[in-house]
Amino acid sequence: MTTISAPSPVQADGTASEPVRLFRTGPVAVIEIDNPPVNATSQAVRAGLLEAIREVDLDPEIEAAVIACAGRTFVAGADIREFGQPPREPHLPDVINAIEDCSKPVVAALHGTALGGGCEIALACHGRVVDAKASFGLPEVKLGLVPGAGGTQRLPRLVGTEVAIDLVSSGRNVKAAEALHLGLADRISTGDLRADAMDLAREMIGKPLRRTGDLPATRMGAEVAAAKLGEIRRKARGAEAPVRAAELAMLAADVPLNEGMARERETFLELRSSEQSAALRHAFFAEREVTRVPGLDNVEPRPVQKVGVIGAGTMGSGIAVAFADAGFDVKVVETNEQALAAGRARVADIYDKQVASGRLTDATRNERLSSISYDVGLATLSDRDLVIEAVFEDMEVKRTLFRDLDGILPPGTVLATNTSYLDVGAIADATARPTDVVGLHFFSPANIMKLLEIVKTDTTAPDVVATGLAVAKRLRKVPVVCRVCDGFVGNRILSRYRQQAEYLIEEGALPHEVDAAMEAFGFPMGPFAVSDLAGLDISWARRKRLAPTRDPRERYVDVADRLCEAGRFGRKTGAGWYRYEGGKRIPDPFVTELVEGASRRRGLTRRPISADEIQARIRAAIVNEASKILDEHIVERPLDVDVVMMHGYGYPAWRGGPLFEADRVGLQAILDKVTERAAQDGPGWEPAAGLVSRASSGARFYS
Ligand code: 3HC
Repeated sequence: MTTISAPSPVQADGTASEPVRLFRTGPVAVIEIDNPPVNATSQAVRAGLLEAIREVDLDPEIEAAVIACAGRTFVAGADIREFGQPPREPHLPDVINAIEDCSKPVVAALHGTALGGGCEIALACHGRVVDAKASFGLPEVKLGLVPGAGGTQRLPRLVGTEVAIDLVSSGRNVKAAEALHLGLADRISTGDLRADAMDLAREMIGKPLRRTGDLPATRMGAEVAAAKLGEIRRKARGAEAPVRAAELAMLAADVPLNEGMARERETFLELRSSEQSAALRHAFFAEREVTRVPGLDNVEPRPVQKVGVIGAGTMGSGIAVAFADAGFDVKVVETNEQALAAGRARVADIYDKQVASGRLTDATRNERLSSISYDVGLATLSDRDLVIEAVFEDMEVKRTLFRDLDGILPPGTVLATNTSYLDVGAIADATARPTDVVGLHFFSPANIMKLLEIVKTDTTAPDVVATGLAVAKRLRKVPVVCRVCDGFVGNRILSRYRQQAEYLIEEGALPHEVDAAMEAFGFPMGPFAVSDLAGLDISWARRKRLAPTRDPRERYVDVADRLCEAGRFGRKTGAGWYRYEGGKRIPDPFVTELVEGASRRRGLTRRPISADEIQARIRAAIVNEASKILDEHIVERPLDVDVVMMHGYGYPAWRGGPLFEADRVGLQAILDKVTERAAQDGPGWEPAAGLVSRASSGARFYS
């Protein structure tokens, strides 16, 4: 820790900066944390902060202090990179207790995001002044942890037990206005944050200090508490931390601060070495690592501001909204006025729903709507920097479109296709500039889903791939760069997942049993429920298209085709793999009969299949295909597959994605879980050699 007798945050002597500095600026000192990139509380920060607080406490010339941060944010939490190492003194709870116990007022000046340990520092201060754009949060559950430095004990004392339970179990961020309303912030700064915090500190000098740890927390009734925990457990879908965090927040009303903090620390340390936390940390870093694509380090992306979207169906309108939300100038084109009007209505509908649910103001909707223009025909796209098509999934349609675009768009325009399966290389070959062509595969709803597969062909120029990554960053998407194959990463794995699910029903399980098993595994929805939601007709059309080229030796389960023949396209027709009443899915005897018929035709004697076997077989099918994808260099790193599955298909993040999990659990262990009989008898079942050879795929990227 450096002490500087100057009012300016500039190092007085120009020496290498220390992560914590104490500025003697009169009676109110400023303790500044400066530990880029996000001021995490690494050991040096904790030691510096403790030293600074002791100095404030002991120095008679200092009457109050402000804790503020340099750089883009207030403290964003404990240093996650230190989690693999043994904890080093001073520990954060001790530092934070020293802040609360300080005999002089300490005020936090918050900007950016005060997260985790950062939020806990703020909670222990005697006052909190926040920048208008700042937010608070205890996101530890997203890393499989509970807050470990008093968060679960001080938050209920400050904002009430119910609100605290919501915040610690969801990990959600609280913006400045809400923080003020909840009593988490005392003031919102309208200009100079540090000056405003110093004003508050000055006002507090000589007055009794309000120590958060001394406040009482309200007790919840036993029944209400049990119901709340049940609800959190259901929502957590197998993740342990949210329930543990809620239990700790409830404890605050029953025990003194030090006892609550001891229990909290114990839980924190236990969870820190858990598999779930290792998985979620892998997920956190993998999500950032995917954007660092080998070979693109020094490649400049092309500038993109004007974007064209061809096709205004569900996908096209969602893509248009995604771009408009990120501040791009968007033009949507269709082949005729009628289709264009329908597209315009779709876009308006997306925004209207957001306004109705309170997520968007009228003014913002109008602003976003005004950034989207509409036109008929391709000619008006000539001024665009990037054009993306979201038209009918047919190779000839797309090739013709790209040939036409080639004649309209100036050189340098990025030509993107949103195809989910087709060969992007063959589409690119229809143009005279295949280097400009790339796949940008959005997931539906395109304005919401985080995943974006960036599909490069053998000819895509590196700066076009870099442009895809830069655009994804602006869209706040998680991009995964991959090469061309049928279904790319996600849909290719999904088709194996679905196939295995269909084998299972043919052998004896029922669709709702498969769904229940996969939901218990942690997916938000099982495969059959997802099909019903997406609509069975689209994949039916695709199957019919592919039928002539299908290998006759391939095991093919035709139940989905028969459902479609019966007009059951899923939720939108009131029936599919289930029937629907008031939005609720209900297993249907009609489907059971179809499934049993399929088993008879295959000559299989149906047998009960356990949830364990269902999970193990589906998991192995996923890992197997993922291994092939790696072997074929469709992606270069196991973490790319993990990110696709977590962000595009609901693979539980607390499992870290299929390949991370496979490496941790050991692939053999997954296979062993499959019953011997299924391994021997399941026709089409592949206990793949490739699977075992991938046992040390390197998926253990961060452990
Ligand atoms: N520890 C270590 N590194 C961190 C970090 C942390 N807590 N938070 C972010 N980083 C790193 C990122 O890995 C990234 O590194 P890179 O440039 O090498 O990839 C860099 O900081 C910038 O992060 P982002 O790319 O995510 O930058 P953004 O501006 O998009 O987001 C953020 C900033 C909102 C702070 C986001 O990084 C974030 O959410 N961080 C995690 C916050 C968190 O989970 N805190 C709780 C930690 S647990 C804890 O505090 C326990 C306590 O209770 C004891």
